Amino acid sequence: MIKKISFIGSGNVASVFAEKFSSVNIDVINIISRNQKTGKELAQKVNAKYYKSIRKLDECDMIFICTNDDNIVKISEELPDVLVAHTSGNTSISSIKGKKRKAVIYPIQSLSKNEKVSFNEIPFCIEASDLETKAKIHELLSKISKNIHTINSSERKLIHMSAVIVSNFSNFCYIMGYEILKEKNISFDLLKPLIQHTAEKNLNREPKKNLTGPAARKDFKTIKEHLALIDNKNYKKIYKIISKTIIDKYEK
Ligand SMILES: NC(=O)c1ccc[n+]([C@@H]2O[C@H](COP(=O)([O-])OP(=O)(O)OC[C@H]3O[C@@H](n4cnc5c(N)ncnc54)[C@H](OP(=O)(O)O)[C@@H]3O)[C@@H](O)[C@H]2O)c1
Repeated sequence: MIKKISFIGSGNVASVFAEKFSSVNIDVINIISRNQKTGKELAQKVNAKYYKSIRKLDECDMIFICTNDDNIVKISEELPDVLVAHTSGNTSISSIKGKKRKAVIYPIQSLSKNEKVSFNEIPFCIEASDLETKAKIHELLSKISKNIHTINSSERKLIHMSAVIVSNFSNFCYIMGYEILKEKNISFDLLKPLIQHTAEKNLNREPKKNLTGPAARKDFKTIKEHLALIDNKNYKKIYKIISKTIIDKYEK
């Protein structure tokens, strides 16, 4: 049974996970972070000890690596041989080096520190090096979520990539729409019911059934006029390529 955990990193995921596990009586032993300010703040919140150096780690049952993806391999090499997990969607479990027991716990949600999130609704993808480790991870995670799925590294990469498309890319589309309206002093609030309705429709039906707009209708004159209204060269390219992709995909 996992009772004592430690975290490497004090960013978004480390903060959200450490606070949540601490709230269900899992002991957070150490926060290891090169950033002293955020590391000490998080350690204080969850009643853990802060260290800058990995070498100072106290004894624990499991260590979460919550750094950026590119540093997982290097950091795992510096850790002692206890159960080590990372939380990255795109990083294979084999990136955790030199440990007998390893795991991945990837939340399919955009997490930010100090932002409340309903854990029971977050799908968690888990993967483990062996059945015993998987059972332990499952038991630990079931204290904070009922939405746990066993997913291997290659499936998880696809899920992560799709998550980037539906979440980060749509977010960037909101930024483009916002900027274009702001330049002309038109309120982005006018688009909010449309954003909400589009998201709700896609939660309830297959996305391709919800597609409307000039490209789906092949209203070429409207598309041409829209392109003439966009000053930013990159935004123009994005509008063009998405419209062309929709037109080609639904060519009858
Ligand atoms: N946030 C999300 O929505 C989300 C969702 C699912 C999965 N994930 C995964 O969770 C992991 C953490 O993401 P995050 O959003 O929490 O990132 P983050 O907020 O940027 O935090 C990253 C943390 O890693 C530390 N760090 C970076 N490089 C380091 C190094 N070489 N040595 C020591 N510490 C280092 C940073 O320290 P400094 O403050 O000193 O830079 C910071 O504490 C990533 O693998 C990510 O793919 C994130």
